[in-house]
Amino acid sequence: MATPAKTGGGLEEVVATSSAICYLDGDRGVLAYCGYDIHDLATSATFEEVCYLLWHRRLPTRAELGDLQSQLAAARPLPEAIIRLMRSLPPVDAMDALRTLASALSHYDPEAGDPSPAAQYRKAVRLTAQTSTLVATWGRLHAGGGAIDPNPVMGHAENFLYMLTGARPDATAIRAFDVALTLHADHELNASTFAGRVAAATMTDIYSAVVAAIGALKGPLHGGANADVMRMLLELGETATPDRVDEVIRGKLARKEKIPGFGHRVYRTEDPRATHLRQMSRDLGKRAGTTAWFAMSEQIEALVKSEKKLNPNVDFYSATTYYALGIPIDLYTPIFAVSRMSGWTAHILEQYANNRLIRPRADYTGPAYPQRIIPLDRR
Ligand SMILES: CC(C)(COP(=O)(O)OP(=O)(O)OC[C@H]1O[C@@H](n2cnc3c(N)ncnc32)[C@H](O)[C@@H]1OP(=O)(O)O)[C@@H](O)C(=O)NCCC(=O)NCCS
Repeated sequence: MATPAKTGGGLEEVVATSSAICYLDGDRGVLAYCGYDIHDLATSATFEEVCYLLWHRRLPTRAELGDLQSQLAAARPLPEAIIRLMRSLPPVDAMDALRTLASALSHYDPEAGDPSPAAQYRKAVRLTAQTSTLVATWGRLHAGGGAIDPNPVMGHAENFLYMLTGARPDATAIRAFDVALTLHADHELNASTFAGRVAAATMTDIYSAVVAAIGALKGPLHGGANADVMRMLLELGETATPDRVDEVIRGKLARKEKIPGFGHRVYRTEDPRATHLRQMSRDLGKRAGTTAWFAMSEQIEALVKSEKKLNPNVDFYSATTYYALGIPIDLYTPIFAVSRMSGWTAHILEQYANNRLIRPRADYTGPAYPQRIIPLDRR
C-alpha cells in the first residue's frame, strides 16, 4: 500500500482540485471571480451579473442578463407545501431550518433526479432563487408576519428585503445588500464549497451536495462567525465605554478565546471583502442614526490587529452592516448561504462536468496492526 502524503492540519496550502471560478491570492489580498477583481465587481456589477459570471465564466450581455432575471423571477416562489413545512417546524436555529428546507425543495423539483447538464443548470438557478425566498420567509414568519410573495419586477437583493419586511426597501439599502451578496458569492475552496464538491464528486444530486455545504457553512469557524460578531457586540452593549471594550477583548485574548470575525486561513493581508463591508457598516450606521457599533468595531479591529496581528475577515463588518439594515441576527449566516448558493452551485456544476471521486487518505495513528480479538466474555 502506498504511504499517504502527510499534510499540515486542516489541509492548509493543499491544492485539492483545479477550478476556473475563483482566483485567490492571500499574500496580496486579491479575490477575483473568473478574472474580475472583487473591487470592480462590488462597484460595477449586480449580484445577478455575478451569478451569470460564476455559472458561465463570462459576464452576460444585456439580453442574457434579462433572461437570467426572468428565470430567477419565475423560480422564486416556493411550493405551498414548503411554506406549510416551514410553519410546522419548531422555532429552531435558522441555519438548521434552511438545511431541512433546502433538502425538502428537492421533493418538489420535477428535475431533481435529472443529471443532464441543462437540468443541473436550471436547478442551480432555482436553488439560488429559492434560497433567498426561504430565508426571507423564515425571517418574516418568525417576526410574526405572513409570508409575502416575491415581486417579479424586483431584483434579487430588493426581493429579499421586501419579502423579509413587507416594505419596499430604498435604493441605498438595495445597493448595500446587493454588494454584500456579491462579496459573499464565491471564495474558492472554502470549507462549505469543498464539502459541496466532495459530495458532488460521488455523483449524488445537486440538492444533497448543497445540503452538505449548508451544514459546513453553519459552523462558527465558517459562516456562523457573522452572527457571533453581533452577539459579542450586543453583549458589550451599545453604551459600552472604550475602556470596557478594551478590558473584555483583552480578557478574551488572554483566555485564548477566538474573536469572531478575525483571522483567515488564506489571507495574510486585509480580506478585500472586509474593505467594502467596513465602509458599508460606517455609512449604514450613520444613516440608521447609530455610530456606536461601528466605533466599537473599529476599536476591536485596532486592538486585535495590535495584539494578535489578525485582520478582520468578511464576517466582522458584515454583522454591523446587516444590523444597520434592520436584519435579525438569526438570519446573518443564512444570508451568507443566500449569496454563496451561486458559488456552491457553480463549483458543483464544474465538478460534475469533469469528475473524479474525491477520496484522500489518512495517516493512520491507531493501535498497531494486527490486534487479536479477545472473546467478549474474557475482555
Ligand atoms: C478563520 C480561522 C478558522 C482560521 O483558522 P486557522 O487557519 O486554522 O488558524 P488557527 O485557528 O490555527 O489560528 C492560528 C493562531 O491565531 C489565533 N487566532 C486565529 N484566529 C483568531 C481569532 N479570531 N481570535 C483570536 N485568535 C485567533 C489562534 O488562536 C492561533 O494562535 P496560536 O498560534 O497562539 O495558538 C480562525 O482564524 C478563526 O477561528 N477565526 C474566528 C472565526 C471566524 O471569524 N471565522 C470566519 C472565517 S471567514
